[in-house]
Amino acid sequence: MPLRHATLRQFKVFETLSQHESVVRTAEALHLTPPAVSIQVRQLADAVGHPLVEQIGKQLYLTAHGRLVALACRDIFDRLESLDQELAGLQGLERGTLSVAIITTASYFLPRLLGDFCGEHPDIAVALHVGNRETILGRMERNEDDLYILGQPPDDARISAAPFAPNLLYAVATPEHPLAGQTGVTPDRLAREPFLARERGSGTRLAAEDYFARLGLKPRIRMELGSNEAIKQSIAGHLGYSILSESAVGGELDRGELVRLDVVGLPLVRQWYAAHPRTKVLSPATRAFLRFLGEGAEASSA
Ligand code: PGA
Repeated sequence: MPLRHATLRQFKVFETLSQHESVVRTAEALHLTPPAVSIQVRQLADAVGHPLVEQIGKQLYLTAHGRLVALACRDIFDRLESLDQELAGLQGLERGTLSVAIITTASYFLPRLLGDFCGEHPDIAVALHVGNRETILGRMERNEDDLYILGQPPDDARISAAPFAPNLLYAVATPEHPLAGQTGVTPDRLAREPFLARERGSGTRLAAEDYFARLGLKPRIRMELGSNEAIKQSIAGHLGYSILSESAVGGELDRGELVRLDVVGLPLVRQWYAAHPRTKVLSPATRAFLRFLGEGAEASSA
């Protein structure tokens, strides 16, 4: 059976299976029986001419052909969603969904921006996914969302990224820290203090490591923690200093619970970016949100 005989239904079932990686969960999500899911997937595999999944032990994996078909499924349903929104737009209606994946550190300000956006566009339903840099890049690779917010776009010509707000990373500590209140602290001196690092896969961690590596230094990592919140608690517990985005520590700095250390070469001046695969068909809701972010950027630089 040639591929053009495959049905939209089969693509929908396979797209859902590629997300859940389980026949039972796919059946639940689509209100089908597991055998019905298996039949649809088998028929699509016949049309493709290759198996799309393989079962190893209890776990289901997509084959190389399956991964390609899953990406194409997302393009197809993105395009249909976009068409739906454009048709509604012709009638003067604004509706649709907007799925945004944001890096953990952006969760301190982006939900508020999304709230303002939803206030202006009440019929657009928004889904928000939060993860560290590695997680967000994985979602982008699999084309799971409309837009990705991160602190440093990947070095990849296939990705389009627009900066929309400044992102400054400071060395922060308690006011009792030995380096607090000193001016012009050298990076070498800073590197000798106990450092609280974010987990591997975090963009904040990458930026801090990069800062020290460029100077031929290595921070004295005392502890590795999986979130900005855990790091802030550990700084408060006098376990060390960290290098964090101002977005994550604004409240603590304002209240004087944490202070910025005055270190040569800091803050690291970065930007927040809105990114998506260059070839992605952007839905009207996505374009509206990008315009909204761009207007905010213009307002703050004016
Ligand atoms: P993170 O990324 O939340 O994964 O640390 C932040 C950033 O890239 O600036």
